Order: sequence, then structure tokens, then C-alpha cells
Amino acid sequence: AFTQRVFSGIQPSGGLTLGNYLGAIQRFVGMQETGGYETIYCLVDMHAITVWQDPARLADATREAAAGFIASGVDPERSILFNQSRVPEHAQLAWIFNCVARLGWMNRMTQFKDKAGKNAEAASLGLYAYPALMAADILAYHATHVPVGEDQKQHVELTRDIAAKFNHDYETDFFPMTEPVIEGTATRVMSLRDGSKKMSKSDPSDMSRINLTDDADTIAKKIKKAKTDPEPLPGTAKELDGRPEARNLVNIYAALSGRSMDEAMTELAGQQFGQFKPMLAELAVEKLAPIWTEMKRLTDDPAEIDRILARGAEQAREIAAPIVKRAYEIVGL
Ligand code: ADP
Ligand code: NA
Repeated sequence: AFTQRVFSGIQPSGGLTLGNYLGAIQRFVGMQETGGYETIYCLVDMHAITVWQDPARLADATREAAAGFIASGVDPERSILFNQSRVPEHAQLAWIFNCVARLGWMNRMTQFKDKAGKNAEAASLGLYAYPALMAADILAYHATHVPVGEDQKQHVELTRDIAAKFNHDYETDFFPMTEPVIEGTATRVMSLRDGSKKMSKSDPSDMSRINLTDDADTIAKKIKKAKTDPEPLPGTAKELDGRPEARNLVNIYAALSGRSMDEAMTELAGQQFGQFKPMLAELAVEKLAPIWTEMKRLTDDPAEIDRILARGAEQAREIAAPIVKRAYEIVGL
């Protein structure tokens, strides 16, 4: 039996978005509070460099993301919080997984296709191998649960395929079958400009997303300009079918207020966007302003963040080192 252990990560590339907060960080805090799990959260800086990052900015971006986690309620006394490049076991295990995963599996990864775009030949080999490194992130800790947004489901399934093939090829039951945890109202927050795309820090349009560092006026402006349709809001979630932009805004409202979609719909039935948008903006500011204020306070003391991350890396290594050492032995290295 494996220890109930949660692992998840976020790339420190650009600022954190409301999508990261609702789809990931808020749920990281939830699993920390639930108890019964050991929780390990990682700023995956080695994933970030699969596309070029400004070397002068990367360390600060990592500190800022760490501050975002802590400001949102990830408690370094109760969760392990660190950045990936400090724990070499991730890269060591990733190499073994590069040799376990099959090209055909990698070719099916939709995120690679999205991120590489039309000119896939010019993408880095690292971007292609990204899911094998992600499998190593998770399995270096024998993590049993991975809270992620909808977009990461395929990568967690690949992690299971890699674990199963490793176990089969080396006649062992060394790696667990990790469960993705994709729950809650906001597992897929969409762009404010296009209801068919997810909200992402890598979207070229800043108007498409709410950043955790946006001030009240910026949040209000982005929500006011968010794409919608002319109809008033209906009374049930079902009636939002075919209205992706409206659904997304209600979904954000529900997630921020800790309610189900149906509860939110009951409250909002009949409202025009002219009424609803300012309410949503006010709620977003009320929830995000304290996080932003705390992030600013924390990033004023970068040395303290560095101490927290260094201690987290030590704790992480204590778990990962014996697991990765054993994986090497199993393979015959
Ligand atoms: P991004 O896509 O913004 O670069 P990452 O790839 O670093 O974010 O993802 C970090 C975590 O945040 C993952 O668990 C991912 O599923 C979640 N996430 C990212 N964007 C969204 C979104 N729009 N809605 C819900 N969850 C999201
Ligand atoms: Na992502």
C-alpha cells in the first residue's frame, strides 16, 4: 500500500491566472486542509524552459509563483513547497521514463500540438518530452493523487501508462497508479475573449485572462469587456448550453463564491450582463485583492521565499532520492 500523497505543480512562466487559482491552487489548499494526505507542491521551472524564458526573469517569476501559492493558503509548514530544478531526481527519473514511454504515446498528446502550433518541427525536444518529465515529477514521490485542471487529464493518464509499462517490463509493482483529481466547478476556466479557449498565462492577449496581480480597476475593465451574448441569464445551468462565454462567467462566479452552478443560476436568473458583470467584478476583487496584497508583502522579502523553497527542496529530496535510487536499481543501472 502506498502513502496517500498528493503532488501537483505549476509552471512559473509569467504570472498566475484566475484559471490557475481556481483550477489548481485553491484545490491544493483544499487537499492540504482535508488532512489524510501528505501534500507536495512544486514550481516546475524545468517545464517552463521547454519554451524560452528570460534568464533574468525566471528566478523572480519562480519566487512570485511561490508567493502566490503561500498567499492563497499553501502553508509551507504543512505542505512541501519547492522548485523542481532544486531536486535533480526529477530529471534523473525522467530519463528512465523517456526510455519507457513510446513515441506513439507522445504523438497523441494534444497539449504538445496546441503549444507547438503549426511549426512543430521548430518546437524543442523538451516540449515534446514534457509529459515524461511530468510523470517523473509525480512518480518520484509515489504520489497517489494529482489535483489538476481538465487540460492535464491526458498527461496524468500517460503517467499511469508509464507506471504500468515500467511495472510490467521490470516485473515489479514499484510505481502506483496515480489518480487525477479533477473536481469542483472550475476545472476549466475559459478565456474572457474566446469561450472555446482555456484561460492561460501564455495567451498573447492580456485581456483574455485575470492575473492574480491585477488591480481592482484592471479586473473590472477585463470583466466589463469580456465577450458575452445579448440574452439575459437563465435559471438553470442546462440552459447555458451553446453559450460558452456566459457559462464561463457564471462558472467563475460560482467558483469564487464557493457555490454550485445550480445555486449560482438560481440567484442570477433573469439578470442582464450589465447587472451581472459588475457583481462578478466586485466578487473577484474581494477574493483576489487580499491574495495580491499578501503576494506583494512576501515578494518584498525574496530571501525569505528562497529559504522556504530551499527547505522544501530538502524535504522533497528526502522522499524522492530513495525512490529514484531504487528505480535505477530495478532497471539495472
Ligand atoms: P498555464 O496553462 O496557465 O500555463 P500550467 O500549465 O502551469 O498553466 O498549469 C498549472 C495548473 O493550472 C494545472 O493543474 C492546470 O490544469 C491548471 N490550469 C491552468 N489553466 C487553467 C484553466 N484555464 N482552468 C482550470 N485550470 C487551469
Ligand atoms: Na497547462
